[in-house]
Amino acid sequence: MTEQKATNVHWHDGEISREARCELMGQKGATLWFTGLSGSGKSTIAVALEHTLHQHGKLSYRLDGDNNRLGINKNLGFSAEDRTENIRRIGEISKLFVDSAVFALSSFISPYREDRNKVRELHDESGYNFIEVYVDCPLAEAEKRDPKGLYKKARAGEIKNFTGIDDPYEAPENPEIHLRTDQMTVEEEVSTIINYLKERGFLKDI
Ligand code: ADX
Repeated sequence: MTEQKATNVHWHDGEISREARCELMGQKGATLWFTGLSGSGKSTIAVALEHTLHQHGKLSYRLDGDNNRLGINKNLGFSAEDRTENIRRIGEISKLFVDSAVFALSSFISPYREDRNKVRELHDESGYNFIEVYVDCPLAEAEKRDPKGLYKKARAGEIKNFTGIDDPYEAPENPEIHLRTDQMTVEEEVSTIINYLKERGFLKDI
């Protein structure tokens, strides 16, 4: 648990409630948390889902491992400690998006179960929806795809602590959505998520 460092700081409420924001936006928002190996398809699915949500008139915003590591998390590497901090920060940011009534589409390897569960707890505490999407792809398939050539480098010893090669990945035990990306098309994956959101009333106008 990250310690509260600053003292004498107090939460300051605004005059516009989350409910009022949701009503303004006509949507409730939620975090869709995509977890899986590098190359499993997390970002591809998030991009396609963002497009479909947009067509449904729903605003979403993608948070992505590589992108955020070039900005807010540029001071973090890939040690267990840094990955934990990476996920903690993105968990908080995702929560801000949900608070603003937007769907956060957060794609991070997030290899540690405990880190993901903490993000879930953070959402639960505020009554926000956290939807864990396990982007499940066998290592051999992700390695075959190797879109950024990183598995090749990791096998050659040029990248250390690479998830799946010499660093662990702890699969979710109870994800809300489980996608087998070696067996499904991106369209099927997106419609699985859309159906989930429809069934639970997320795509209805408020
Ligand atoms: S996480 O483990 O902390 O959740 P994150 O999703 O932000 O990782 O970043 C993963 C991306 O960083 C990968 O898709 C890959 O492009 C790049 N990367 C660079 N080095 C590593 C590494 N050692 N392990 C995993 N991904 C790495």
